Amino acid sequence: MGFCVLFVQLCIAFASTKNCFSAGIPRFSYIGDSTPGIVGSQKETLASITTNYWTLENVTRLAEATDEANIAYFIQVSSSTLPLTERLLSRVHHPENFYALHFDKKIPAYRVVKVVSSIKANPAYGNVHVMERDSVTYRGITMVLNNLAAITDLLKLGHWDYFINLSGSDYPLVSPVVQRKILAMPHVRERASNFFIVSPQDQWEDSKRYRFEKIAVDTALGMSTSEEDSNLVVLKENTPLFSRLKYEYVKGEGWLILTREACRYMIESHYARKMLLSMAFSQDASEHYYVSLFRNHPEYNRTIVPHSLRTVYWKLNGVASGQHPYVIDKLVEEDGSYALWKWLLRSPHWFARKFSIPNSKIMDNIDNHMNGLGPKVNKTSVRECLDRVEHHLHWLYSVLPQQQQDIIADKSDDAWPS
Ligand SMILES: *[C@@H]1O[C@H](CO)[C@@H](O)[C@H](O)[C@H]1NC(C)=O
Ligand SMILES: *[C@@H]1O[C@H](CO)[C@@H](O)[C@H](O)[C@H]1NC(C)=O
Ligand SMILES: *[C@@H]1O[C@H](CO)[C@@H](O)[C@H](O)[C@H]1NC(C)=O
Repeated sequence: MGFCVLFVQLCIAFASTKNCFSAGIPRFSYIGDSTPGIVGSQKETLASITTNYWTLENVTRLAEATDEANIAYFIQVSSSTLPLTERLLSRVHHPENFYALHFDKKIPAYRVVKVVSSIKANPAYGNVHVMERDSVTYRGITMVLNNLAAITDLLKLGHWDYFINLSGSDYPLVSPVVQRKILAMPHVRERASNFFIVSPQDQWEDSKRYRFEKIAVDTALGMSTSEEDSNLVVLKENTPLFSRLKYEYVKGEGWLILTREACRYMIESHYARKMLLSMAFSQDASEHYYVSLFRNHPEYNRTIVPHSLRTVYWKLNGVASGQHPYVIDKLVEEDGSYALWKWLLRSPHWFARKFSIPNSKIMDNIDNHMNGLGPKVNKTSVRECLDRVEHHLHWLYSVLPQQQQDIIADKSDDAWPS
């Protein structure tokens, strides 16, 4: 105890000149087992999870972080997001990460070939894997299956610690190096943190009624390659499973930041497979499967950090966007400025969506003022963004022990301390 106090005091005294806090922390070691394909290490890995209480005073600060985690990104590309793919890839690319790209089978081959050959021609992209093409149905189970196929491919590519799923309409607000550093921080890895939104519990029952009760068939399961055979057909019949589910049907969102172990658990465990099948004929399984799987698991449950670290705008000046979120680059004021820019600039998250226009001015703004990847970087502004990202993350961890997981997601967008 005495040592701790002394250590902290020393640190405060030297904080500005020395890498003091991380000096007391062992170098980054990969979370869990590094040999892919071996089932059984889950229990031991998770049993060692401790959940200390961290404050800004004793957490590693970004400016002092030296360790980095390897990240595997999955980018799911649809017909409308194809033109955005190359820029997105270039902004999340890092030589030590891994990337899997999936192009929906419904996109005409000639369009895909152009993008893929340009990616393949880039010698820096040796760590980018282009997946076999398949039909993916929006809101169908094939979306989940596609995600699992990406994880399976990525596990074979090499050793990574974290998985992040993206769609072609996402854009990074922080650089991949910052993401790598944050995911290697001691307080993030001691919990084996898995990040995704868990919706407030009072929404679960309704969601189960609307999305699970009626049998819904994703016609892309038929393996047809024709464009018409990729939709969701909702039958009048109720599923006999509705009244028989003994696990809790949890609502959330499909945006994931998962540890390698959590990914392997999804791919390899019997329980995960069974839960997946139970949702095969439901709607929007990607918003229920992962959340339900990990939330119902007595050990993985403790690893959940209930935030996806993404910014999505469902409201602007009090006006709701409707069924789909606002498209950030489409909301242009009369003077040509972007209506959402001033909000975006205050975002403490890692990614924003949705974007629709290739190489738009707002992407240039993000590169120069937020993620620092542009040609005319404003260092002050990038610094401010990083501070916000860091504060938001540490705030999340500081409230974790005290609050119900599902409440955080609701509040955190504007309620983080500055
Ligand atoms: C960080 O500091 C807080 C407040 O002083 C303390 O309660 C907590 O145990 C510390 N956490 C760690 C991991 O040292
Ligand atoms: C998971 O955690 C939540 C919130 O801490 C708790 O309410 C729930 O009962 C836990 N579920 C399981 C299966 O442990
Ligand atoms: C850089 O960013 C800071 C902080 O956001 C701002 O005050 C300043 O005007 C910006 N400088 C330029 C040249 O855009």
